[in-house]
Amino acid sequence: MTMKLLILAGDGIGPEVMAEVVKVIEWHKRQGLDFVVSHDLVGGAAYDAHGTPLTDATMERAQGVDAVLLGAVGGPKYDNLDFSVKPERGLLRLRKEMDLYANLRPAQCFDALADHSSLKRDLVAGLDIMIVRELTSGVYFGEPRGVSREGNERVGINTHRYTESEIARVARSAFELARKRSNRVCSMEKRNVMEAGILWHDVVEEVHKAEYADVELSHMLADAGAMQIVRAPKQFDVIVTDNLFGDLLSDCAAMLTGSLGMLPSASLGAPMENGRPKALYEPVHGSAPDIAGQGKANPIACILSFAMALRYSFDLGAEADRLEAAVEDVLAEGLRTPDLGQDEDTRSVGTQEMGDAILKALDARA
Ligand code: NAI
Ligand code: MG
Repeated sequence: MTMKLLILAGDGIGPEVMAEVVKVIEWHKRQGLDFVVSHDLVGGAAYDAHGTPLTDATMERAQGVDAVLLGAVGGPKYDNLDFSVKPERGLLRLRKEMDLYANLRPAQCFDALADHSSLKRDLVAGLDIMIVRELTSGVYFGEPRGVSREGNERVGINTHRYTESEIARVARSAFELARKRSNRVCSMEKRNVMEAGILWHDVVEEVHKAEYADVELSHMLADAGAMQIVRAPKQFDVIVTDNLFGDLLSDCAAMLTGSLGMLPSASLGAPMENGRPKALYEPVHGSAPDIAGQGKANPIACILSFAMALRYSFDLGAEADRLEAAVEDVLAEGLRTPDLGQDEDTRSVGTQEMGDAILKALDARA
């Protein structure tokens, strides 16, 4: 079956890091994988060309592919634009119209970088956990909301609201992922103080019992979970949690493993007719205007986002493992883009040199 990819490189370092991903895709095509790649504009680049950060035509193309690969959007050039046409609106429209409700944020520690962690090497070496954050509901969206007056003071209101079906679908995403990993899910909420947390717990239990009894399920209160993530992160495989807790826990877990230039992500929605989930893959970092155009951006976050596409959109787990191992190889050789720091055992390289080295490491593992 062909695998259709839409590449939206975006702004700033987006096109620079995406050029290295394109090389990685071409490499896989030479191995016989049937990727069909198309390119389009998003963010400031789309605004410059069409006066909107995402055209309807691009939106339609995104709906018609198996996976969207996005670079980054935004930059100082666009800071004074009207809110409705800001580059970020393009990305938000993609997430909303594709209904990408499961945000996947891995925290993976490469051995060569384990000494850069804020935790001791033995706590993070070999770390590979995945936080699944519900992305389209919860307290960031619930009604009523706003700041109003009550008597002689102001009151700020947000509503933490989840429906049963919203919980069930993100729980399914987490269980599906766990089956492609170490088959364990830990669900986090605060059912001790929140009714919506009780519902979260119960629905996750029900989905587990009915459809995923082969996956090992545990529950943790989210505050205790935060402690455990920094105390002994390797105890986890997949963590599933709501929008707010997931926002905090995923940033926290990601930083255990080092640089922004290393962090991939994915956002998944409902399964399409061909069984693949709606999917958008992107690095966690932004367009990095301070280093754009200088050829020194780290392409690894974007390349690891493609590795996630291999694993989670196309069931190519062995290929994803090989790509991650190739990244590990070049780091072990001592190659470092400037964001990863330097010491006497390392060699500073630019974006393209890093990409080329990863291709060579892939060759060696083919
Ligand atoms: P940023 O992630 O672009 O940069 C933060 C710092 O990390 C900068 O010093 C940058 O040079 C460095 N950095 C980031 N990615 C790197 C990489 N791959 N290699 C080496 N160094 C890297 O965040 P910032 O500066 O807050 O935002 C810049 C622009 O990006 C803004 O317009 C913001 O709105 C946008 N942005 C877009 C995102 C997206 O497209 N998903 C996410 C975050 C920010
Ligand atoms: Mg955040």
